[in-house]
Amino acid sequence: MKTRNQFMVENLRPKIIAGNWKMHKTTEEALHYIKKLIPIIKSTSEKVYLAVPFTALISVCEECAGTNITVGAQNMYEADEGAFTGEISARMLKEVGAQFVLLGHSERRQIFSETNEFINKKVLSALAVGIQPILCVGETLEEREQGLTERVLVNQIEGSLGHVYDHQLENMVIAYEPVWAIGTGQTATPEQAQEMHAYCRKVIENEWGDETAIKVPILYGGSVRPDNVKNIMEQPDIDGVLVGGASLSPESFGQIINYQTINV
Ligand code: PGA
Repeated sequence: MKTRNQFMVENLRPKIIAGNWKMHKTTEEALHYIKKLIPIIKSTSEKVYLAVPFTALISVCEECAGTNITVGAQNMYEADEGAFTGEISARMLKEVGAQFVLLGHSERRQIFSETNEFINKKVLSALAVGIQPILCVGETLEEREQGLTERVLVNQIEGSLGHVYDHQLENMVIAYEPVWAIGTGQTATPEQAQEMHAYCRKVIENEWGDETAIKVPILYGGSVRPDNVKNIMEQPDIDGVLVGGASLSPESFGQIINYQTINV
């Protein structure tokens, strides 16, 4: 049973169910998906976020206008404009209607060698144009086994959020995604996830103060499915989920969003 105080504190933070399509879906497939998802989730009280590929952004933003779906991107580059072949700026995202951007996803860190310093520049650039960054952090299996999880998290959070003021952080989202749980079917137990979420909140508190720490939503990501979302969402420091594989079909993502009202 949660105490009254716990309820009040948790209610300061929005509950967010976010989907990350990664490199999936043409624009045509994306629109087909959105048309199916809208009626499934029309009565949810959760905030629904969808991170879609750049090419589908304009159409998905138009299709979702006036619905309860917030659309965002999966990456961006720090500069406003310039000779950066193949890159997309925060201003460009803003123009097409993106409201948030995933930054520092483990696939970006691992496959594309993104560092905390590089991610930090993107965070600042997104904030400067009013796009909400969702900063992803999380340890690898090797780091966990070596007892380095906390050190990795503190480095990622502090390193990626340099020069971010408390009022800016209050409008951001953090996603804790243990790398060993992403796309592997191996979810962290709700207790393991809670422990790390509480730790991330502590790191924020130490650096930005408790008033900020209490307000920042921290999402869990890593093999979230319709059958495990409820237990995850019950944890006091877990304010939502970031879903990859199970967000690819509107039916399973809809079940995750509607976890409070359906039994799987
Ligand atoms: P997954 O991916 O749900 O497929 O594990 C999560 C993520 O990468 O955000």
